[in-house]
Amino acid sequence: MHLLAALVTAQAISAAVLPRQSTPCAFVMNAVGDPTGQIVEDTIGENRIGGGFPQGNYYMIGHTLYDYRNHNCIIDPDTFQFLCTQGASGIADFSLADDGNLMHQTCENFLACPATGPGEDGSWNIFSDALQNTTGCEAVTLRTGGFNCTALGRPSTTSATLLSVPTSTSTSTSNSTSNSTSTSNSTSTATPACPTDLFSGNYQFPHLIIPTSSKQGDKAFGISYEAYITPINTTLFNFDIPATYTGTCSLIFLFPYKTDLDPSAGGYYFSGTEEEVGEHGGIDFALLSGIATAGTTYNSTPAVATDYGKTQIIPGNNYTVATYPCQAGQTVSYSATSVGNVELDYFQDSAPMPIGLYVVPCV
Ligand SMILES: *[C@@H]1O[C@H](CO)[C@@H](O)[C@H](O)[C@H]1NC(C)=O
Ligand SMILES: *[C@@H]1O[C@H](CO)[C@@H](O)[C@H](O)[C@H]1NC(C)=O
Ligand SMILES: *[C@@H]1O[C@H](CO)[C@@H](O)[C@H](O)[C@H]1NC(C)=O
Ligand SMILES: *[C@@H]1O[C@H](CO)[C@@H](O)[C@H](O)[C@H]1NC(C)=O
Ligand SMILES: *[C@@H]1O[C@H](CO)[C@@H](O)[C@H](O)[C@H]1NC(C)=O
Ligand SMILES: *[C@@H]1O[C@H](CO)[C@@H](O)[C@H](O)[C@H]1NC(C)=O
Ligand SMILES: *[C@@H]1O[C@H](CO)[C@@H](O)[C@H](O)[C@H]1NC(C)=O
Repeated sequence: MHLLAALVTAQAISAAVLPRQSTPCAFVMNAVGDPTGQIVEDTIGENRIGGGFPQGNYYMIGHTLYDYRNHNCIIDPDTFQFLCTQGASGIADFSLADDGNLMHQTCENFLACPATGPGEDGSWNIFSDALQNTTGCEAVTLRTGGFNCTALGRPSTTSATLLSVPTSTSTSTSNSTSNSTSTSNSTSTATPACPTDLFSGNYQFPHLIIPTSSKQGDKAFGISYEAYITPINTTLFNFDIPATYTGTCSLIFLFPYKTDLDPSAGGYYFSGTEEEVGEHGGIDFALLSGIATAGTTYNSTPAVATDYGKTQIIPGNNYTVATYPCQAGQTVSYSATSVGNVELDYFQDSAPMPIGLYVVPCV
């Protein structure tokens, strides 16, 4: 009870102090099109595709996009260039499309033009699609990914409060509660043996996500931050189970409402509850008999070792897919397959409102 109260309090405090949109996650971007490649940022705040500058890290608060130096990003009103420069003004209305593409004023299209002049390193500068194409520019979209919610000092604000308070509370009260529990026996019903959320702070997220396609059975789509679970696409998830997970583990699937997701983490595409209910659809999760790699294709997916059957998913819920002895110290792969035409495409994201597949130890 104490633990629960502390958690609720910690949440209430952090929610009151920091509205959710001010607890951003850092992310990176990749250009998709021709050219394709990492978005880097040069020393004067130009976002570029390719070249020798380090990969850019960005975050969003509401519709404002910032680079890692906390410079706000804009589309320059005169040149239409996409820059992150201190004090710059221009079009600053950014958002993320459901597919994770960066949008400027709700438009996903950008132009990439070969960088010229002294900074020429084979990279491309990025402009809004309002630019007149006079210099061999190409259309690109900017795909966000690699959301990292431990960056940007978040731990010293929200997540540290959230994570450290319960941890310290649980250790300091465990002495007394474990003894009082043995007599009063009241907390055992309040604390489920296997969590269906991440509040304990002790959980595993997938370290590798690999989409596959039955229509392109031999194509390796490679590492992805987004999971695609459709009648055609099956997605594979690898977990590295810590050696300390020696007891029972639960595979859980968190499926919040889209509107509860952090804006910086993008939305998700869900075909809807009609397929779930009308066609008895859902997601079939299974433990595989081998380990997926970045090169795994639909046809080379390891055989199913244990099929956990269908989990019907409805937004706003968390689900326990399976409970089993933890595979301590091992890497394990799970597959997620659509049943009954259900489609769910989402960015696996651990915070602030987590979504997706996790492994939690039971207590
Ligand atoms: C821009 O112009 C070049 C050269 O004419 C052409 O190859 C390219 O396809 C054009 N880009 C777009 C986005 O229309
Ligand atoms: C997340 O960001 C932190 C702080 O910049 C960094 O130390 C860490 O390596 C990043 N993690 C990932 C997975 O990118
Ligand atoms: C009680 O908790 C404290 C703090 O976590 C710990 O140092 C101590 O060893 C515990 N005492 C017992 C008897 O478990
Ligand atoms: C619980 O109570 C027993 C007996 O009263 C005592 O020996 C033990 O140290 C207590 N455990 C904790 C964790 O405080
Ligand atoms: C808790 O309650 C259950 C059911 O009433 C009982 O079987 C069990 O022995 C109790 N445990 C303790 C530690 O008192
Ligand atoms: C699902 O788990 C997440 C992560 O801990 C939590 O924030 C959310 O409140 C849970 N949702 C439900 C419906 O229990
Ligand atoms: C899903 O399958 C379709 C059809 O083969 C394919 O075009 C698409 O790229 C796949 N998506 C992913 C992310 O693998």
